[in-house]
Amino acid sequence: TDQSLIRNFCIIAHIDHGKSTVADRILQLSGIVPKREMHDRFLDRMDIEQERGITIKSQAVRLPWVKDGVEYTLGMIDTPGHVDFTYEVSRALEACEGAVLLVDATQGIEAQTLSNLYMALEDDLTIIPVLNKIDLPSAEPDKHAEEIANLIGCSTDEVLRVSGKTGEGIRELVDRIVDQVPAPKGDPKAPARALIFDSVYDSYRGIVTYIRMVDGELKERQKIRMMGRGTVHDPIELGVISPDMTPTKALGAGEVGYIITGVKDVSQSKVGDTVTTEANPANEPLPGYQDPQPMVYSGLFPIDNAQFPELRDALDKLKLNDAALVYEPETSVALGFGFRCGFLGLLHMEIVTERLSREFGMDLIATAPNVTYQVTMEDGSEHTVTNPSEFPDGKVRRILEPVVSADIITPKEFIGPVMELCQDHRGRMGTMEYLSPERVEMHYKMPLAEIVFDFFDQLKSRTKGYASLDYQSDGTQSADLVKVDILIQGEKIDAFSAIVHKDKAYAYGVMMTKKLRKLIPRQQFEIPIQAAIGSRIIARETISALRKDVLAKCYGGDITRKRKLLEKQKAGKKRMKMLGHVEVPQEAFIAALSTG
Ligand code: GTP
Repeated sequence: TDQSLIRNFCIIAHIDHGKSTVADRILQLSGIVPKREMHDRFLDRMDIEQERGITIKSQAVRLPWVKDGVEYTLGMIDTPGHVDFTYEVSRALEACEGAVLLVDATQGIEAQTLSNLYMALEDDLTIIPVLNKIDLPSAEPDKHAEEIANLIGCSTDEVLRVSGKTGEGIRELVDRIVDQVPAPKGDPKAPARALIFDSVYDSYRGIVTYIRMVDGELKERQKIRMMGRGTVHDPIELGVISPDMTPTKALGAGEVGYIITGVKDVSQSKVGDTVTTEANPANEPLPGYQDPQPMVYSGLFPIDNAQFPELRDALDKLKLNDAALVYEPETSVALGFGFRCGFLGLLHMEIVTERLSREFGMDLIATAPNVTYQVTMEDGSEHTVTNPSEFPDGKVRRILEPVVSADIITPKEFIGPVMELCQDHRGRMGTMEYLSPERVEMHYKMPLAEIVFDFFDQLKSRTKGYASLDYQSDGTQSADLVKVDILIQGEKIDAFSAIVHKDKAYAYGVMMTKKLRKLIPRQQFEIPIQAAIGSRIIARETISALRKDVLAKCYGGDITRKRKLLEKQKAGKKRMKMLGHVEVPQEAFIAALSTG
């Protein structure tokens, strides 16, 4: 393909502003999806995406487009909007020269509109501003065009107006992309260099690696080299997605496509690595990506511990398609063998556990999520704690917690409630700017731990759903934190240890001990359940002793009933964990962890 006729662009927007719907209309107009195969949000290919109505993965697709008698090749990438999937967006941006910035004409600019725009500008992409949903009666295109024009410094006429629902304005939008997005500028004669921006494990074909060709050409049956890994492969297929995998003989500079090597070893394909040819390798790899920093950690344990090796295999494969996921093995007294996993947020964590269950058949339990702490002890030793149960013993000099800078956009009548909410979450207010006479952007510094859990839901409810939130890591601060342990008959249950603010320690202790008292069955002896900070007990509940033997119920009854009861007990025992002398059904741990 002639590079001057290629246009690579992505669609970026705040969540729900209509990226996938606009992508549908573009796909349809290009004619590559037959009418009977078209369905809503065509590029949201996963079941979870369809069910939840959100995009989780960036999806690249190639389309033909004819303008003034010339046929162009478009590389379009639909991206996710939720803050937890920013890493997906940032990698997609790297594969493009332009970005369509979509804004819902009934809502205007929201927090992820800004963060996505700033990322695109940092990558020097050409921005095409577009108002979507102009078919809705509540759309206020003039007002929001003004907002956008102010933001990116263009005139209001340059802001296109479209409807992903009716298709109005979509043809003009694509023509604008062809006119304004620059063609790729790689050197077609240079040694091949392609950036790996994504990959996926396919159980039939092995690893599928998605690449953006920068320089040179890759050809069928030509050995390739992964520059970072240093491995050499024979590709068995090269191709483009249009709209499904379509083999091609070669991929040239500027093209977006895929490679299949038939290799099943998942470590061979690393997002951010550069692909070159073995015969004529490039000297320098492409810059690649910065590894994302996990925001929250949680332990994932198979409910059936025999599934541990399968869980490792599933994580390795899922990681191919989710480069933001990190994990390392962990053991827990209460839950057995599992993995401590790092996520970009709670939605990311939820999606990972759900994909592990759906795509890999894993039945999992997740421990309560926490952020990372830097702990300095009185003896000067330093510890990075991603797991509360690994919190060092002894006298603590200082604990640093991660801080974020948060940007909240809200109609001005909610400024008061938002300030109150942020204060309750230990936020420090920075500046505040008016985006328009009615809407403001407020800046806060806040502990990450205060924002990742319930903050967003509360923000939505206090602003009738009108406020939006975005945040980025912004260093650390020292904080008054303590570790609370939960003990059953004097034994610490690691899965329930938590690092909490001093003011919230008591509440956590009372909540956990009460919960466990209800969940653990009575036994032959009394069982104390305690919450402690170091050796100081802050809460206690007691499970009183069982007076009667289980068989007493069957006194005088027939023997088969008795045997049945004993067998039932035995089956139940398999799922019991021994903590000292106390038998705890695994269900009790699961129930205690899952209800928050
Ligand atoms: P994420 O990928 O999850 O960030 O969402 P998205 O930006 O891809 O939004 P999506 O295309 O899923 O659209 C969100 C909702 O808006 C859906 O219910 C769409 O049907 C609706 N929608 C999208 N575009 C239009 C439009 O032009 N007009 C109207 N009336 N509704 C639209």
